[in-house]
Amino acid sequence: MSNHIESVLIEDRVFNPKKNNIKDNNFFIKDLDVYKSLCLESENDYKSFWKKYALDFLIWHKLFTNVLDESEAPHYKWFTDGEMNVSFNCLDVNLTNGNKHKTAIIFESDDGKVEKISYIELFTRVCKFANGLKKLGYCSGDRCIIYMPMSIEVVVAMQACARLGIIISVVFGGFSSKSLHERIVDIGASLVITADSQKRGGKYIPLKVAVDDAIEMGGCESIKNIIVYKRSDKCVSWDIDRDLWMSDVEDTQSEYCEPTFVNSEHPLFILYTSGSTGKPKGVQHSSAGYLLWSKMSMNWTFNASDSDVFWCTADIGWITGHTYISYAPLALGMTQVIFEGIPTYPDSGRFWKMISDHKVTVFYTAPTAIRSLIKSSSSDQEVHPKNFDLSSLRIIGSVGEAINPETWLWYYKNVGREKCSVVDTWWQTETGGHMITPIPGVTPLKPGSCTLPLPGISASVVDETGEDVLPGKGGFLVIKRPWPGMIRNIWNDSERFKSSYFPEELRGYYLAGDGAQKDNDNYFWILGRIDDVLNVSGHRLGTMEIESALVSHELVSEAAVVGRPDITTGEAVVAFVVLKDKQPEGEEAIKIAKQLRDWVAKEIGPIAKPKDIRFGDNLPKTRSGKIMRRLLRLTANGEQITQDISTVENIHVLKSLSTVL
Ligand code: PRX
Repeated sequence: MSNHIESVLIEDRVFNPKKNNIKDNNFFIKDLDVYKSLCLESENDYKSFWKKYALDFLIWHKLFTNVLDESEAPHYKWFTDGEMNVSFNCLDVNLTNGNKHKTAIIFESDDGKVEKISYIELFTRVCKFANGLKKLGYCSGDRCIIYMPMSIEVVVAMQACARLGIIISVVFGGFSSKSLHERIVDIGASLVITADSQKRGGKYIPLKVAVDDAIEMGGCESIKNIIVYKRSDKCVSWDIDRDLWMSDVEDTQSEYCEPTFVNSEHPLFILYTSGSTGKPKGVQHSSAGYLLWSKMSMNWTFNASDSDVFWCTADIGWITGHTYISYAPLALGMTQVIFEGIPTYPDSGRFWKMISDHKVTVFYTAPTAIRSLIKSSSSDQEVHPKNFDLSSLRIIGSVGEAINPETWLWYYKNVGREKCSVVDTWWQTETGGHMITPIPGVTPLKPGSCTLPLPGISASVVDETGEDVLPGKGGFLVIKRPWPGMIRNIWNDSERFKSSYFPEELRGYYLAGDGAQKDNDNYFWILGRIDDVLNVSGHRLGTMEIESALVSHELVSEAAVVGRPDITTGEAVVAFVVLKDKQPEGEEAIKIAKQLRDWVAKEIGPIAKPKDIRFGDNLPKTRSGKIMRRLLRLTANGEQITQDISTVENIHVLKSLSTVL
């Protein structure tokens, strides 16, 4: 493991917390003294610390006696002998605490239609659907792929599976049939829940057909049914022995379904995320520990209150959509907005109009969305947030990648009107919930820094031997102690789990895979991934996956993919490609570049499409044949190579790789 993280220029402006926007909430951290005492409490006796919250935040069917079992570390087990049900904790609890008729979800479709569903209505739909699944023979431990648009139905599907202990894996609707196929096979799914299509930006995009294609690829014999939510009136192909409409599964069922109480460690879901090498990793999360951390982090970071209208714009296919749409807001009895469409349709004022229409109080989005809206509102004043009534907002959040100080300031001034706390939340698919983030109204803010770890999270920056580095020095971001929301395993691959996240040289610390540095106030500054994973529009993409897709094209002999900064997407994919035939030029090169982009979109999904393609007659390699990515990264960024290049076998090839297409 090499330590190649360099420090960046640090912003020194400090914005004091906006206290007047903060609501009363039993568990909220009211000031920095409380924050410090909670941090101390968790440091001194972290088992008691977590026990207290597990008792306060979750309803247990069978109380646990053991807080943390470390006997198979790093496969930590939390609240091991306890039993509970996630859906019970998200829905049933709201039927008796005054939230029964409260709106749970305000759904706005792509074309602007609004549908509201109360807690009792959501509970009933979940129960009916769960009963339908039960009747079909599905039960605890079965695996289900969910490939659905943003909708009330996707929440119903996720919650119904949780009610029965069915382990789900949600696949982002933008992924292709090939990605879907890989995931179906990896988890041995017996059920797929999908929709005929999804509607985004005024267009219907088919989904069912991708599921059919995936199954046709072979090896999916485990699949018994495909349940289809009817989103449009488009025709879909149908296998009468296998396919069912979601409404038919739900309709004749009874309105109560007894939850299946599961062990605390029962896997709630598996969510695939990119690694630097090989196939995507199936990140496995637990039931009790995950829900506990979802609830606690939501409560602290967003100062959750009864009167909030919360809106997280993430897709359900990413961890943010799991934790802060499908689980935590429901478990806290909040009202939330779910949006089917995209921020730029019918125009780039859509987010601001929706905040104004639904009186959103807490808004959570990604820097890539903010950057694209900054761009459109500078060319079209009509869609500028200043033209909308955003006075309901009190907290605005950011997630997925570092928010650069200029974007932070624009967000703070134009969306938050200098009265909202900005919460820049650092976390990952593997962490389950927020880890390093400001507490609104409490933590002084520095644009570009995710500030301080939440209590219970022992984050640190260390060198390659696990030793803490001094403030101002770059290093590896690690979490020194386990926490309930942490990843439990990589599905079917314990060895990869251990080597990826708990490398021996780091003394058993959880390795986040990000570079970071702390400043003199102990604020964390994230410096980006330490491996070769790209972060495009807030989504992690493995370079290996894109390279494999390129190389699987009949014309391609070799490919290397790196990232370069991009004003809109954070990072853009740059592909260096060597064809089997000679290096193409002119029109021919443009034609092949287009073919390759379309190919990657088909193989992985449009998000992975290379922005730049550069053809060459070879790639720079070490003598042992390892591609020199750091040189390609410099080339992609148009930078001079000033480093030691003595290990490069064929440095001259860089010249041929300099033309951007
Ligand atoms: O590199 C960090 C970046 O996103 C990675 C996690 O990606 P993923 O598992 O897809 O989850 C995204 C949503 C939680 C991290 O390792 N990242 C996430 N949030 C931030 C961030 N980088 C800087 N600042 C953040 N606030």
